[in-house]
Amino acid sequence: MDFGKTGGAGPKLRWICARLARDGLILCGIRLVPDGLHSPFRKIPLGAESSRMTNPSDDAQRSTEIPAASAQPWPGSPRVFSGVQPTANIHLGNYLGAIRRFADLQHQMESVFCVVDLHAITVWQDPVALRHQTREIAAAYLAAGIDPAKAIIFAQSRVPAHAELAWIFNCVARMGWLNRMTQFKEKAGKDKERASVGLFVYPALMAADILAYRATHVPVGEDQKQHLELARDIAQKFNNDFGCPDFFPLPEPLIEGPATRVMSLRDGTKKMSKSDPSDMSRINMTDDADSIANKIRRATTDALPIPDSVEGLANRPEVENLVGIYAALANCPREDVLARFAGQGFSQFKPVLAELAVAELAPIASEMARYLREPDAVDQVLAAGAERADAIAAPIMADVRKIVGFLT
Ligand code: AMP
Ligand code: TRP
Repeated sequence: MDFGKTGGAGPKLRWICARLARDGLILCGIRLVPDGLHSPFRKIPLGAESSRMTNPSDDAQRSTEIPAASAQPWPGSPRVFSGVQPTANIHLGNYLGAIRRFADLQHQMESVFCVVDLHAITVWQDPVALRHQTREIAAAYLAAGIDPAKAIIFAQSRVPAHAELAWIFNCVARMGWLNRMTQFKEKAGKDKERASVGLFVYPALMAADILAYRATHVPVGEDQKQHLELARDIAQKFNNDFGCPDFFPLPEPLIEGPATRVMSLRDGTKKMSKSDPSDMSRINMTDDADSIANKIRRATTDALPIPDSVEGLANRPEVENLVGIYAALANCPREDVLARFAGQGFSQFKPVLAELAVAELAPIASEMARYLREPDAVDQVLAAGAERADAIAAPIMADVRKIVGFLT
């Protein structure tokens, strides 16, 4: 056995290396993912940045700095992961910012789409409502065209890897990192003492969701950007601390298109949100044609005509929002929408927008209703998806347990 790069290290390190070697993790200065493990690659060079291995017990000294990323592209295969919380009032922002893109991506890469019920309970959920809402998100996935024979659709709580890896990540992420999360500050509000501990560590669970599948691409709305940066930091710190530079990929956020941040129909400075008390502020994915048209007709605008350039949308957030929604629904750049409607008033624009929204969303709403009339069929889709998801995550978790030093 050659401990190569460990030469000169103290007896403690040599002991750890011997243990890892015994467990099949280090050979000839190369860290190996042990034989028989279902990894996309075998050899992971033991890089110079494996400082955690040289100073494992000195936790207080561990930096809150994030180590530098490996310059090499990740050697595993690409995989999409994303999730939506089963909280009430799934809306147009969820559809345009996330779910519709999931349906496109399933044709480009292996895809895993989760109903993140563990995330939902970070704020109180009535258990009966939670069951319905979980099926409702699954129905939205199916109605939007996600094919369960192709992509994996499942509920988070049915696959144990999420909670287990989240705990390990709670021990990797630093308090300082989580303290910077703006969504916690917004959701906890003034009385942080009364927020659940789960709400605070929620981003570590989100990192676990993604990395339990070694997912490389994560389609989300703009509001999740900071959480994804944290997921990358956690992946990097894990790889660095345990001296396995390429074990987890650094997942890429996919935040693209004209609808990554759909705003409230009542106030263009506020995000369209499930929890807005005004139902008129959002188009729900369950709304029928009349409600969709009515909400667009009554959406807040200003008295000026539609501008002829994107610059003309500055300081007109409501107008910018409606133009962005139109562009997303019509699958065209905002410039094309402005070229068509420049100079017109909202009495002309809104009916055309309403027609477009109804044409896309009303059939999805009726498909969702059809799925929800057959909850057992939805449950079967989720159960089959959980099995496939577990088959991916379980071997990755077996590797993680070995790497962390748990007896297996
Ligand atoms: P959530 O309902 O918080 O679980 O969000 C599910 C997905 O929808 C995430 O990818 C969010 O970023 C996205 N999303 C939520 N609200 C909006 C919005 N107003 N505009 C665009 N995307 C959104
Ligand atoms: N936090 C996301 C939201 O509130 C939902 C989510 C949980 C998620 N886990 C994820 C999104 C993993 C992408 C990847 O919208």
